[in-house]
Amino acid sequence: MKDILAELEERREDARLGGGQKRIDAQHARGKLTARERIELLLDEDSFEEFDMFISHRCTDFGMEDNKPAGDGVITGWGTINGRQVYVFSQDFTVLGGSVSATHAQKICKIQDMAIQNGAPIIGLNDSGGARIQEGVDALAGYAEIFQRNIMASGVIPQISVIMGPCAGGAVYSPAMTDFIFMVKDTSYMFVTGPDVVKTVTNEQVTAEELGGASTHTKKSSVADGAFENDVEALAEVRRLVDFLPANNREKSPVRPFFDDPARIEDSLDTLIPENANTPYDMKELITKVADEGDFYEIQEDFAKNIITGFVRLEGRTVGVVANQPMVLAGCLDIDSSRKAARFVRFCDAFEIPILTFVDVPGFLPGTSQEFGGVIKHGAKLLFAYGEATVPKVTVITRKAYGGAYDVMASKHLRGDFNYAWPTAEIAVMGAKGATEIIHRADLKDAEKIAAHTADYEDRFANPFVAAERGFIDEVIQPKSTRRRVARAFASLRNKKLQNPWKKHDNIPL
Ligand code: HXC
Repeated sequence: MKDILAELEERREDARLGGGQKRIDAQHARGKLTARERIELLLDEDSFEEFDMFISHRCTDFGMEDNKPAGDGVITGWGTINGRQVYVFSQDFTVLGGSVSATHAQKICKIQDMAIQNGAPIIGLNDSGGARIQEGVDALAGYAEIFQRNIMASGVIPQISVIMGPCAGGAVYSPAMTDFIFMVKDTSYMFVTGPDVVKTVTNEQVTAEELGGASTHTKKSSVADGAFENDVEALAEVRRLVDFLPANNREKSPVRPFFDDPARIEDSLDTLIPENANTPYDMKELITKVADEGDFYEIQEDFAKNIITGFVRLEGRTVGVVANQPMVLAGCLDIDSSRKAARFVRFCDAFEIPILTFVDVPGFLPGTSQEFGGVIKHGAKLLFAYGEATVPKVTVITRKAYGGAYDVMASKHLRGDFNYAWPTAEIAVMGAKGATEIIHRADLKDAEKIAAHTADYEDRFANPFVAAERGFIDEVIQPKSTRRRVARAFASLRNKKLQNPWKKHDNIPL
C-alpha cells in the first residue's frame, strides 16, 4: 500500500512539473506564470479540484511515442471565485507549446460539458501554439469539438478567455466565440496566421505585436475586451468580473453587500451639463456617481470610445451600463460604437442583467467611410439588440437625443421600462441649426431670419417636455437625484416578465 501511495505522489510530482524545470524557467524569464501558478491566482485558495492529471496523448508519429508528458499540456478542473463555482482550463506552454492534441481537446471538452450541465462559468487561460502539428487531423477534430461546445454554451453560461501567450490558428477561434477576451500586454498575441505567413502571402512586414498584440486587439480590431499589464493583474481582474456575473442564464447575478445609500444625492450632477450645448463633458463622471461605491467595470475601454459599456452595481445588484460619451466624436453613433454596444446589450439580455442607458447623442456619424462600411447594417445591430432585449431597461437622456439615435438608445418605443430625461435634454429630429437650414431654406441668405427661426426651433424642441407630453418620457428628473431614481426604477422591475414571440432564433443583421 505504501508503495502505491508513494507512486501516486511521484506521478503527481511528475505531472506538476509539466515540460520540466528548464521550460518553466524559460516561461518565468518571459514574465509569464506557469499554467498551475495562474490557476492558483485565479481561484480561491485550496479550492481547485483537478481532472485528468495523468492523461497522455495517443500519437505515435514523429517520435511522439517517446514524449508523453502527463496531463498533455492542459490543466483542467473546477474551483471557486469568492465562493462561487467556476470551471477552468489552463494551457501549459511548457508542454509541447501548449499545443492542442486530440486528448488535450478531450480534457477541455469534458469540463465544457460539466460547466454547461452544472450551470457554472468557464474560464480558459490560453497559452498555445494551436493545433498539435504532429497529430494532423486528430488535432483539428479536437478543436472543432471545443468550438461546438463554445457555441452550445453561448448564452447558457458565461465564457471568459484570457490570452496569456501566443495564440495562433485554432487557438484564436475558440476564444472568439466566448463572451469576453482579455489579453496580457507584451506577452500575448492572437492571429489566424502569424507574421511569417503574412510575409509570404502578402509581402507585408509586420511584427507579432503589431499583427496581434494586446494594443492591436483592444484598440483596432476590438477582438479583445481588455488588456492588462501582467498575468497577476489579468487574473485579479477576471475574478472581479466574475463577481458581477450570474452563474448561468437561469440565475440572477449575485447580490453583494453594499455600503452606499441608494438615495444618495449628488449635487455636482446638477452642473455636469455645460452651458454651451456643444461643449463636451465626461459621461464616466455620471456613471461612477450613480454606481454603488463608484465601482465601474468597463468593457472595451480602448475601442470606440464614443460609447461606454460596462458593469456597475445598484443596491448590490449588477446592472449593465451603455452610455454615449460626448468627449469623443461628440458621442455620435458609428459603426464601431454600434457593434460594441450591441454585443454588450445582447450579453446582458442573455444573462438577465438589467440595462441602464445614458443618452447624449447628436445622431449617426455622417460620411462615405461610414456608409461604405455599412453603418446602416451595423447601426441596426444596436437597434435590434435593444428592441429584442426583455431585461429591465432604464434610460436617462442627459442632453441630446437626436434623430434615429434617439430611437436606438433604449427609447420608450423599444420597450424602455423607465425613460427619464434631465431638464437639459433636447429631444428632436436634429440640432436647431441643421433643422432650420432645411425647413427655412428660402431664408438662408438672411442671417437675422435664420437666427430667429433657430431660436424658435430651440424653444420648441431643445427640451424634454414635448416628449414628456406624449408619454415618451416618463418623468423629467433632477440630475442630482439620478442614483435614487434609477435605483428605485430597477428595484420596481425585479419581477419583470416579458417574452418575445416563439422563434427558432432571430436574424440580427450580422
Ligand atoms: C506542436 C508545438 C506547436 C504546435 C509550438 N510547439 N507550437 N508543437 N504543435 N502547434 C512546440 C515547439 O516545437 C517547441 O517545442 C515548444 O512548443 C515551444 O515553441 P517555440 O517555437 O520554441 O516557442 P516560441 O519561440 O515562443 O514560439 C511560439 C509559437 C511558435 C509562436 C507558438 O511555436 C509557432 O509558431 N508555432 C506554430 C504555430 C502554428 O502554426 N500552429 C498551427 C496553427 S493551425 P520544444 O520541444 O522545442 O520545447 C491550427 C488549426 C486549427 O491551429 C484550425 C481551426 C479553425
